[in-house]
Amino acid sequence: MTAHILDGKALGARLRAGLAARITGLSFKPGLRVVRVGEDPASGVYVRNKDRAAIEAGFDSATVHLPEATSEATLLAEIARLNTDPTVDGILVQLPLPAHIRAEAAIAAVDPSKDVDGFHPLNAGRLAAGQPGLVPCTPRGVMHLLAESGVALQGARALVLGRSQIVGRPMAQLLLGADCTVTIAHSRTRDLPAECRRAEILIAAAGRTEMVRGDWISPGAVVIDVGINRLADGKLVGDVAFQEAVGHAGAITPVPGGVGPMTIACLLENTLDAALARRGMAG
Ligand code: GUN
Repeated sequence: MTAHILDGKALGARLRAGLAARITGLSFKPGLRVVRVGEDPASGVYVRNKDRAAIEAGFDSATVHLPEATSEATLLAEIARLNTDPTVDGILVQLPLPAHIRAEAAIAAVDPSKDVDGFHPLNAGRLAAGQPGLVPCTPRGVMHLLAESGVALQGARALVLGRSQIVGRPMAQLLLGADCTVTIAHSRTRDLPAECRRAEILIAAAGRTEMVRGDWISPGAVVIDVGINRLADGKLVGDVAFQEAVGHAGAITPVPGGVGPMTIACLLENTLDAALARRGMAG
């Protein structure tokens, strides 16, 4: 068996084109502000990519770049200013923040109606309670990829490998909401290969280079690789040993070009959703 490759780059581009078309029909440009503190080089690349994609799709997007020495109080004051700015619909505080700033404090300071990362405890709670709200971008992108794969979610055995606030936990909630039978596995799980082999849908978000081997994958399973790991030679690889996995999976995402482009597309989707909801215009 050779797995079907799920092309996140193409799907992300289609989603962004659909959002751009919807925005041309509006009388306003949805506003996005990405807040970056300090000089983390990877964050610089991510923030530029988000900004460029947003502007291309017709959003009013800008980066608020604060110096490394910015105090927590100054960052919270900047977030408060964006909360009350009526032209701003979405606020994203890029992580990681410098060590002297508590990420939880910054996340909790964002107005939940503008929380396009879906990280605010109110939005996390809404998701856990099965209520509508803003959902973290990467898990939302994974749900699009699963829809694209054609896999039937209802009753399917799904395994989420990883329990982070950003991916694993919200991912499990979304799959549960779609009527999957969900297992959350993590670094303390006993006999991880056996748990993975039971899964018809496997979401790898452990942050460990090529941890999931080909023989951990049930024949025909849909495998979504959320991992982005840089090797010493600069090459990017996922949490799944891709070359082994293509011989077992029914469908699989590549790294790069799988989940990554979907995360940006879903940030824009969240921003348009927030803009419409804040104006009482249901998405
Ligand atoms: N840093 C790495 N990924 C993310 C993300 O999805 N959101 C934010 N805010 N920061 C990140």
